[in-house]
Amino acid sequence: MSHKIQTLSGYFHEYQKSVAQPEEFWERIAESFHWRKLWDKTLDWNFDEPKVKWFANGKLNITENIFERHLYTKGDSPAIIWEANEPNEPNRIITYRELYELTNQFCHALVDNGIRKGDRVIIYMPMVPEAAIAMLACARVGAIHSVVFAGFSSTSLSDRIIDCGAKMVLTSDGNYRGSKSIPVKAVVDEAILNTPSIEKVIVLKRTFEEVVMKADRDLWWHEAVAGKSKDFTAVETDSEDMLFILYTSGSTGKPKGVVHSIGGYMVYSYYSFMNVFQYSQGDIYWCTADVGWITGHSYIVYGPLLSGATTLMFEGVPTYPNAGRFWEIIDKYKVNQFYTAPTAIRSLQAFGLEPLEPYSLQSLKVIGSVGEPINEEAWHWYHDHIGKGNCPLVDTWWQTETGGIMISALAGITPNKPAHASLPLPGIQPVIMDTEGNELTGNNVEGNLCIKFPWPGMIRTTYGDHEKCKKEYFSAYKGMYFTGDGAKRDHDGYLRILGRVDDVINVSGHRMGTAEVENAINEHPKVVESAVVGYPHEVKGQGIYAYVICDMEGRTEANLIEEIKDTVKKIIGPIAKPDMVQIVPGLPKTRSGKIMRRILRKIASGDISNLGDTSTLLNPEVVDDIIKGANLK
Ligand code: PRX
Repeated sequence: MSHKIQTLSGYFHEYQKSVAQPEEFWERIAESFHWRKLWDKTLDWNFDEPKVKWFANGKLNITENIFERHLYTKGDSPAIIWEANEPNEPNRIITYRELYELTNQFCHALVDNGIRKGDRVIIYMPMVPEAAIAMLACARVGAIHSVVFAGFSSTSLSDRIIDCGAKMVLTSDGNYRGSKSIPVKAVVDEAILNTPSIEKVIVLKRTFEEVVMKADRDLWWHEAVAGKSKDFTAVETDSEDMLFILYTSGSTGKPKGVVHSIGGYMVYSYYSFMNVFQYSQGDIYWCTADVGWITGHSYIVYGPLLSGATTLMFEGVPTYPNAGRFWEIIDKYKVNQFYTAPTAIRSLQAFGLEPLEPYSLQSLKVIGSVGEPINEEAWHWYHDHIGKGNCPLVDTWWQTETGGIMISALAGITPNKPAHASLPLPGIQPVIMDTEGNELTGNNVEGNLCIKFPWPGMIRTTYGDHEKCKKEYFSAYKGMYFTGDGAKRDHDGYLRILGRVDDVINVSGHRMGTAEVENAINEHPKVVESAVVGYPHEVKGQGIYAYVICDMEGRTEANLIEEIKDTVKKIIGPIAKPDMVQIVPGLPKTRSGKIMRRILRKIASGDISNLGDTSTLLNPEVVDDIIKGANLK
């Protein structure tokens, strides 16, 4: 049964129903899945603890809803189409039946190597079908996966392994990204030097470069699955068992493990996928995210596969071997729905229209954007030149914590408005709050974005520390989930996301905590103190600007700046490397010692016209010094 909304009035009707009778609304959708035992209670919640349970005591396995449910009707249709980094490397087209068999074989490999229900498994892999197979096999044996983006450093990887007490790492020898071949196994080796919980490492051969394999610990993927049965009976799980942990940055110095549970996430990733993208059977859908982020989880793997869709997975980068690669792939496979990030659009826009010329892009029906606010210029370029002016552009707002798209147009059903995420999906109740905790009703209001009622795909806890979850998301506004974003409801009632209101910056659609970057910078032996802020960046959306106080003895600015950037790259990964490092004599502080980031943000953005009253600072003179130093850059 399809739960696809077909008309604008249908949207309003469903939306009203979902608010008036949320339990009945979600039950109707959940009932279309295969449950080994139906749930006792649809929703049990309070946002104070917080406690959120959807479909409590329902028993299922999410992969039975991908495989067993679709095998009769879709066994021979493509589940995954994989395009390699090199355009002339043969592609792979994997049908639902083949994916089922490959997953089952890998389930045996997991179980034979000691993985049981509830165990944590780290996936640190390139964008190859085996990354999806790894996730699905974990889910099928009832293990909890935690995918770590393969661009993170060994320190970041080891922090995550320790935090979740993982027993196994699934990885590859190396990773192709554009013209580069990046070592992956070597990073894992370094990461697990001090992580005693890791018992086994399974390594996929991808680049065929030489790696060290430790006896009794490391085994090759192809050997682990060799001769294994293509059948595996899925392990029964509870609706509220954990499906995965995904680490994400917040305002604290360490990333937190966002936990999603099985039943609710299944229902929500499916429902949001079908409705936002208006997927029709047979369509070819392509999301360009990496499986290391939530977008890859919900809209490359789970949402599309739960819908019986064909999902395209691309190993490479948009500019390799040239800036026409995305458009070439769209024509090659006749992609119907294309979902990417504003940063990719802006970087391709910079190449002009020439790379587009050989391609028709006629197959496209829907184009989408995710990860950061899309500025109007990029919106129009994407809409006019990629969508050719006749594809709905869905600007989808959501977060790692929300599990699925929350605010977005439904393609071709609800209206598009440039740079506006627009309207909430059915079942989602967003509210705009002022700083005193009052809800701002009506149109033309601006404030902090909260959600006042639970939805099935939402975060359940932060792994190993429920208090942290409460403090981060449920304490700022009583009885509400606080998103960390500012939003405006415009005169027509459409929502526009204004960006983060906390100490989180969004670099090329990747979330970075300023405290996390500061902690990494402070590891450099010459650094005394640092403050990191975001500033507007033409391609990345936001860039990272670091103000650093250093002990300069025996050093020059230029080499220290490079070393500081490298320290961050080593500790977190290349995505966190500051774009600007300014060595400063001091940081502007209030009398209570708090850094005045507002001033630093203004200077970083090149706007020193209105810095406000600086006379109450402990050290007002430092502001002039910083401005002078910034001018030199
Ligand atoms: O600030 C919002 C921004 O990305 C944040 C969530 O980041 P992450 O958990 O990494 O998930 C990204 C992919 C879902 C949000 O708090 N963001 C995401 N989508 C949009 C957006 N900002 C504006 N418009 C969007 N469409």
